[in-house]
Amino acid sequence: MHLVYQQGFRNHVSTEAIPGTLPQGQNAPQHPSLGLYTEQLSLSAFTVPRQHNLHSWLYRRQPSVSTHAPQILCDYPYFLSANPSSAPISPEPLRWNPYPFASTPIHWLNSLYTYVTAGDVSLRQGGAIHLYACNRSMEQHIFYNTDGDLLILPETGALLIETELGRMRVAPGEMAMIPRGIMLRVQLLDQEARGYVVENYGQPWQLPELGPIGANGLANVRDFDIPVAWVEEAQTPCTIITKLNGHFWQKKLEQSPFNVVAWHGTAYPYRYDFAKFNTLGSISFDHPDPSIFTVLTSPSAHIGIANLDLILFPPRWLVAEHTFRPPYFHRNVMNEFMGLICGRYEAKQEGFLPGGASLHNRLTAHGPDIDAFKLASTETLKPKYIADTLAFMVEGSLLWHPTSMVMTSPQLQTKYAACWQGF
Ligand SMILES: [Fe+2]
Repeated sequence: MHLVYQQGFRNHVSTEAIPGTLPQGQNAPQHPSLGLYTEQLSLSAFTVPRQHNLHSWLYRRQPSVSTHAPQILCDYPYFLSANPSSAPISPEPLRWNPYPFASTPIHWLNSLYTYVTAGDVSLRQGGAIHLYACNRSMEQHIFYNTDGDLLILPETGALLIETELGRMRVAPGEMAMIPRGIMLRVQLLDQEARGYVVENYGQPWQLPELGPIGANGLANVRDFDIPVAWVEEAQTPCTIITKLNGHFWQKKLEQSPFNVVAWHGTAYPYRYDFAKFNTLGSISFDHPDPSIFTVLTSPSAHIGIANLDLILFPPRWLVAEHTFRPPYFHRNVMNEFMGLICGRYEAKQEGFLPGGASLHNRLTAHGPDIDAFKLASTETLKPKYIADTLAFMVEGSLLWHPTSMVMTSPQLQTKYAACWQGF
């Protein structure tokens, strides 16, 4: 399947599935062409500063109001949202073996399984991290999340993500971001799929400031792919599932809601290939904090403190002199959830596998395991390329609550801390 993309990040783009349908010079003409209806999608308050304003004008065959239908409350017992909780959170380091592949027929939405939540979904603070493992396309099921933006990071299996604003192919090593409020359907392009989903309740993702780094480096604006407008011509009945404040509702539609013929604006899904991340690091001695690997950040109300940061550990050269090169031992006031897309993470010789996860909450000591420490302390220092690795971390300012499901899961490693025995 060949899909065409535009490039950019938060800049104003225009696209049309049928040439000539995008009004010129006016957002809301009295009669858009082809009898289309004009609808604005606002993903930021009307009044936020221009550089933060996220809104798009959609020109569609049916306005969204025409899809109203009775909604039935439904249950997704494994797809959870954060709520204020006084439940104890263990200060122990936690790690999980890979999430099992699906053994029975299941599609992406039904397979979402929540590992951790943080903050409060109703206050739009914090987020959640889910894993999926599926072997079916969503077909006539369409999902619509009002609670947060969804970052989808495949670990196995390519996905075709169909949305109201266009379609994207997303493979392992890439990520897709689906803003809150955009309807989506995940179709499989391989026999099975597994991966991670980061749900961000807080401020929308933005690129980190570069400061003294200058104009270039990390994730560049031109490397983000934006889908072009797409209309689903087949009109088969479908079920729309909505998540609102952690609860799920569903309704039936007789026709596809993927009917946006043209759109323009700053609110849209996008795709990013992690291979395009321009990794920076030390070329003298010591190594910087992992914040230098930030791909995207969701700021909090406090300057310099993220609600969530997406941080990448990609293949890269290590060249520093006199320096212990793996991540250092540390205790961090921020809260770190990690996943592995492929290969091996350099701070762990074993036990952290693709499809697995680790959690080091506020000020929990962690770092290289004993074997990684011994190796990195004694090997001859010369430029070294770390190949075959792609790990990520979602670092947040709010504590991650592991769900009771993952604390009793057979994937939980009960002897994780033993990797630091022997120092
Ligand atoms: Fe860490």
